[in-house]
Amino acid sequence: MNRQIFFFIGAPLVCLGLLTLLTSCDIKKGREEVKKISLTPSQLAARFPYDLGPATVEISAYPENIQQSYKLFLAACSICHTSARPLNAPYIKAADWKRFVHRMHLKMDQREISLDKETEKKIIEFLVYDSKVRKMDKKQEFDQNQEKLNLLFSELVKEREKFIQEETEKLPKKETPYVGVQ
Ligand code: HEC
Repeated sequence: MNRQIFFFIGAPLVCLGLLTLLTSCDIKKGREEVKKISLTPSQLAARFPYDLGPATVEISAYPENIQQSYKLFLAACSICHTSARPLNAPYIKAADWKRFVHRMHLKMDQREISLDKETEKKIIEFLVYDSKVRKMDKKQEFDQNQEKLNLLFSELVKEREKFIQEETEKLPKKETPYVGVQ
């Protein structure tokens, strides 16, 4: 009788306990993976090295109208990705910013996010001014930061690939069906 009770109640309980232990180990391991290179979740989602830099700029010394345009920039250019992407991108020239902002504008149209011509012009104005101050006038500092971001990004890509490979190895292997000689 005691044995029966063990099989019907005890054994499932032991299995459940083991399963909980195993999954909690997995979660812990995942957390450690992230901690090792100490990246925030938004950094882990980075698609470009420039996503990893600061998402804001110190604008207190900028002219009043540019400070106003900065607000428009932050509002529009952090909807789909971090504002760090344009802020730390290597683009400087007005022609480049016109091209990129126009490209983003088309993407916004597709998603029915409105951006009027006047706001677009002001955002370009901010980007051109800010590029001059931070990227041209302080070129050396900016280039050094670019190097750091590129290095961090290549580390991140390696970690991400390792993580994905480990997760894939954990999946049950599917048998490939025989389809004959083709
Ligand atoms: C509707 C979503 C959306 C909005 C809003 C948006 N972007 Fe983007 N942006 C994207 C996507 C998607 C990519 C990556 C694919 C690409 O480059 O086309 C991207 C990439 C970029 C890049 C990197 C391009 C490269 O190839 O180096 C820059 C710079 C950029 N965006 C600037 C901006 C600026 C400035 C704004 C604000 C005017 C903005 N984005 C608003 C979706 C958006």
